[in-house]
Amino acid sequence: MGLGTITKKRTWLVTGGAGFIGSNFILAQSLDPELTIINLDKLTYAGNLKNLAGIKNHHNYIFVHGDIGNESLVQELLQTHRPQAVINFAAETHVDRSIQGPGAFIDANVVGTYRLLEATRSYWAALPLNDKETFRFLHVSTDEVYGSLKAAEPPFSEESPYAPNSPYAASKAASDHFVRVYHQTYGLPTLVSNCSNNYGPFQFPEKLMPLMILNGLQGKALPVYGDGQNIRDWLYVEDHGEALRLVLERGRVGETYNIGGDCQKTNLEVVQTICSLLDQVAATASHVPHASLIAFVEDRPGHDRRYAIDSTKIRQELNWRPKETFDSGLRKTVHWYLSHPEWVSAVQTGAYRDWVKQHYGQL
Ligand code: NAD
Ligand code: TYD
Repeated sequence: MGLGTITKKRTWLVTGGAGFIGSNFILAQSLDPELTIINLDKLTYAGNLKNLAGIKNHHNYIFVHGDIGNESLVQELLQTHRPQAVINFAAETHVDRSIQGPGAFIDANVVGTYRLLEATRSYWAALPLNDKETFRFLHVSTDEVYGSLKAAEPPFSEESPYAPNSPYAASKAASDHFVRVYHQTYGLPTLVSNCSNNYGPFQFPEKLMPLMILNGLQGKALPVYGDGQNIRDWLYVEDHGEALRLVLERGRVGETYNIGGDCQKTNLEVVQTICSLLDQVAATASHVPHASLIAFVEDRPGHDRRYAIDSTKIRQELNWRPKETFDSGLRKTVHWYLSHPEWVSAVQTGAYRDWVKQHYGQL
């Protein structure tokens, strides 16, 4: 039975909701008048409350500044708001940063998830039997835990062995294992989703797509790692959000669901497509054609060659389908960055952090 069918009024504790995927998810779910969302976010450099400016005063949205690793804070939030689900987006997420400094990834992704699980377990254990059964802990994870595919290998399924190759992937793999353990050992009703590369509005411009769009618009070099032939499987962020809602409401407890766009592209293809779109929307720029800005740079150490997701299970069990194609999703994304110069400028100047510093002191 799904959560939505048990009771109409619901509360979810969402963690990491000021980041890219979490904020898109909250904005979409906040349209549901029966749902209250508590957003717990530490506001690292990747957390941006401007993403949620449109709903900040909604009566059914509450922002809490804090760390998932702060067990007593999480306990207090759970006791106060009595949610029916915890959805964990909070994580350090950038592979290049994880290569520079793995420690922050272990703290947030491994230890943080463990402490969030502990706090959730003690809240869940004391719930009345019926609420215990319908409670869900959804852990949002990545396809990077499965490692790298060779050109001829089939896409990752839920049965693919874990073989992480970056500190980021290893930390997410460890967190997935802990979530599994809390189900197997303690009976916590968990769900894990492993999704491919997302793109869309509000993505921090350290990641491939927004970096290329913004550098292209500003006439800066477009740095392609290695030979540009690494393959990623791209999914529009709102399609990921819809998949997560389905997993939460109808997924089988203790299961993993792979989510992917069935959209494998080399990095060079992605960058060239962005360049062609920029040629259309910024036809008079001095750096047209934008592809002339492409610069091949030193490869990322341990760079996974190919990711691809087999999403048969979620398609068949939950009847999920992505709504956007690569073409429609990318057009929307380029348009979004073009039409939100204030967001872009606040992120690029660092001004989006000013309010956080004023309000919370130095982070
Ligand atoms: P992001 O880096 O944009 O946002 C992460 C958010 O988590 C930020 O708001 C940050 O402030 C917050 N955060 C970090 N550490 C925290 C902590 N200890 N306590 C509370 N909040 C903390 O990330 P994203 O791209 O939105 O990814 C969200 C989740 O989805 C991550 O778990 C990631 O592994 C997973 N995922 C991402 C992708 C992708 O393509 N971006 C694909 C599959 C899965
Ligand atoms: P990224 O957006 O960092 O996501 P992930 O590493 O989690 O897949 O990178 C996507 C792909 O783009 C990856 O193969 C690395 C490559 N890349 C570049 O070629 N240049 C860049 O400047 C960046 C940030 C990424």
